[in-house]
Amino acid sequence: MNVSLSRRTLLAASPAVFAMAGGSVLPNAVGAAAAGAAGGPSRVRLAGNENPYGPGPAARAAIAAATSDCWMYPIFEEMALKAAIARSEGLTPAHVLIGSGSSELLHLAAVLYGLDRGELVTAVPTFSLVADHARAVGATVREMPLDTDMRHDLGAMAAAVSARTRLIYVCNPNNPTGTMVSGEALNEFIAAVAGRAAVLVDEAYLDFLPDAAAHSAVARVKAGDDVIVVRTFSKLHGLAGLRIGYALARPDVVTRLARLRLTAPGSLGVAAAAASLGDTAFQDLSRRSIAEARIITTAALDDLGLRYAQSGANFLFFDTGQPVAEFLGAMRERGFSLGRPFAPYRSWCRVTMGTVAQMQAFDRALRSHYASAAR
Ligand SMILES: Cc1ncc(COP(=O)(O)O)c(C=O)c1O
Repeated sequence: MNVSLSRRTLLAASPAVFAMAGGSVLPNAVGAAAAGAAGGPSRVRLAGNENPYGPGPAARAAIAAATSDCWMYPIFEEMALKAAIARSEGLTPAHVLIGSGSSELLHLAAVLYGLDRGELVTAVPTFSLVADHARAVGATVREMPLDTDMRHDLGAMAAAVSARTRLIYVCNPNNPTGTMVSGEALNEFIAAVAGRAAVLVDEAYLDFLPDAAAHSAVARVKAGDDVIVVRTFSKLHGLAGLRIGYALARPDVVTRLARLRLTAPGSLGVAAAAASLGDTAFQDLSRRSIAEARIITTAALDDLGLRYAQSGANFLFFDTGQPVAEFLGAMRERGFSLGRPFAPYRSWCRVTMGTVAQMQAFDRALRSHYASAAR
């Protein structure tokens, strides 16, 4: 057992020591780390782009309170959640569709626009669900490489739109790179393609930005463009296991998407999401703690001379300088479970920001890995 692993194991075993080592650690994050945080029996999970601080206190209380009502379908609760989301976005409830995670909503859009041999324009690499599901229903997928800064190449994507294009997918910030296009560039892009194809903007990670609203495409929904903005409670809100997401779109588009919906979300998720929406203290704390974790990790990468993409999200994409499968194996041995490889970046790795204490431990493991590689 190497030094970093034994220290991590010790921290995981003792919440008090973990808190001392980490600074801003919430009790639930300590619990997650102590349980191995589902990265394996004794591994720190930095693989799923979740928020290890979640759920927040308000969501936890709402889940507990909602358990005795689970015998009912949460029809009115879902309507209330829709209304709260609409209010916070300056839209009407008819502009909102709640889904079982944002995955369900991305799937609905892929199917709705992919049927009848539709064409999808997407970046590569990006979150692949939309392309995968569009292909599964017979669509053609045009994959456009990222630009030299690993951002969506909006100019190339606009040029790729043809008479057959039905849907354009933009993930902002992008998974796995964390890179962003500005709200201004995105809105110009939407204006340029509006009327030729629908635009699906995946804002799963936008909440991690302090100025998220400035970069959202929701203004184009308000303006009546054929734009679907998809968000989730799985990331900043720390509710990935409860599967709640939402889409914001023109009411006629919401109606067409809703017709394909399989079922409605469950009571506990709806209750937790509604409570978490109002828990701005938890959101702020998570945002700050994740930003702190990002600073720790980029400082290590800078010291080690490793390149990384500029991230606005709760993960970093960096060049390990070796085949990524080898690097992932080495970090697994040191107790960390990281993201899978993302072609065509064969030596790049995605690491999710865990708690501050977990990222301090990751920092030590990273430095030790490169020190032993240099020997
Ligand atoms: C960009 C992006 N969109 C959507 C999702 C799906 O999230 P969920 O279905 O949990 O809302 C993910 C999950 O990692 C993601 O990275």
